[in-house]
Amino acid sequence: MNKNKTCEGVSFAELAERFGTPLYVYSTHALTEAYRAYETAFSGCPTLICYALKANSNLSIIRHFAKLGAGFDTVSGGEIARVLAAGGRADKTIFSGVGKSEAEIAFALQAGIKCFNVESLPELERLNAVAARMGKSAPVSLRINPDVDAHTHPYISTGLKANKFGIAMAEAEHAYRTAAALPHLHIIGIDCHIGSQLLDLSPLEEACARILELTGRLAAQGIRLQHIDLGGGIGIPYREDETAPDLTQYAAAVKNMLAAHPAGSLKLVLEPGRSLTGNAGTLLTRVEYVKRGEEKNFVIVDAAMNDLMRPALYQAYHRIENADGGSTQPEITADIVGPVCETGDFLAQNRRIRAQAGDLLLVRSAGAYAASMASNYNTRPRAAEVLVDGNTARLIRPRETLDQMLSSEKACLED
Ligand code: LLP
Repeated sequence: MNKNKTCEGVSFAELAERFGTPLYVYSTHALTEAYRAYETAFSGCPTLICYALKANSNLSIIRHFAKLGAGFDTVSGGEIARVLAAGGRADKTIFSGVGKSEAEIAFALQAGIKCFNVESLPELERLNAVAARMGKSAPVSLRINPDVDAHTHPYISTGLKANKFGIAMAEAEHAYRTAAALPHLHIIGIDCHIGSQLLDLSPLEEACARILELTGRLAAQGIRLQHIDLGGGIGIPYREDETAPDLTQYAAAVKNMLAAHPAGSLKLVLEPGRSLTGNAGTLLTRVEYVKRGEEKNFVIVDAAMNDLMRPALYQAYHRIENADGGSTQPEITADIVGPVCETGDFLAQNRRIRAQAGDLLLVRSAGAYAASMASNYNTRPRAAEVLVDGNTARLIRPRETLDQMLSSEKACLED
């Protein structure tokens, strides 16, 4: 067995033996490096890096970023509860999303979060009403839709007029005046988020320019903001031939625009998700069968679409390597598929691979939108998660058990 492929100082083969498969493995070092890259790029400009925990909401990952000084971008009461449970600070937490319920708003107000990123006029009214009932004033930013094409997969593009997110640029000033007139709100910022997995910086820079222009128009009307929040969206290389956008270049462009801005000293907020965790994670999966067909070959593995939904949902590409080498096997072209009863259950299609039953495969770039999007479809227990730090590996979520999956329904069974 080839024990050379490692996560930091621990071999993937050992991890698979010790914890079983499928297994998500994360590198502490890679998480830290990704966070520090933002800090370094934006140094000299007061910036709050709010990790978008939808990318990976494991409590140990949240705690790691909290210790590094991060704030958090959340999109549900559940995610706010995760931040608090992990020891993250409410006053560094922002709450985004188009459908905040009354209960979620009340929970966030009670917790004392930094800011509500409001996405519509009806949400402003609701927020004001809940804050009034609680005798509080809610800190508000309006999410403005800058109508910039992010050139990414349509399901993860969010900044166009046709998307459900944000308040249209044409309505923005009216929305700010409405917010300013509501007695239980106080305006602190402006935000946008145009899409995810962006490898080209120009749409992000264009969005920043448009948001700053609006900020200037607001200032002229006496609405002064403390921060501008540019959202997340920076992509990661999934394929060998892709390169990550240059954060330093992005930061320099943003700093220049801020410095040239007449509205005074605006603080910066960012909401990166994928770029902090994506390439820190690998999904380990074991080959169950190699099925040779007349038209197609299939490498059937023990991870499935319920563990990694991205290929089925967005035709996403994840690099897959054989940790055991598979060198005695002929190289074949195959689909790498899971046991779920759906034709869409594939992790990769038409890949050149050498593999035999029992081999360990490494599905790369699985630190973001993998475990956090996992489900129990086909009554498959959710996989375990492990965080490696140097030579040590720590279980940060045990593999779900059959009992855990069934017990709440068993309790509802009639005699
Ligand atoms: N802020 C807001 C308001 C967002 O909607 C998102 C992601 C982020 C920040 C973080 O974006 P990031 O830095 O990760 O690009 N499941 C999809 C990605 C959906 C992203 C949704 N919003 C995928 O697997 O590609």
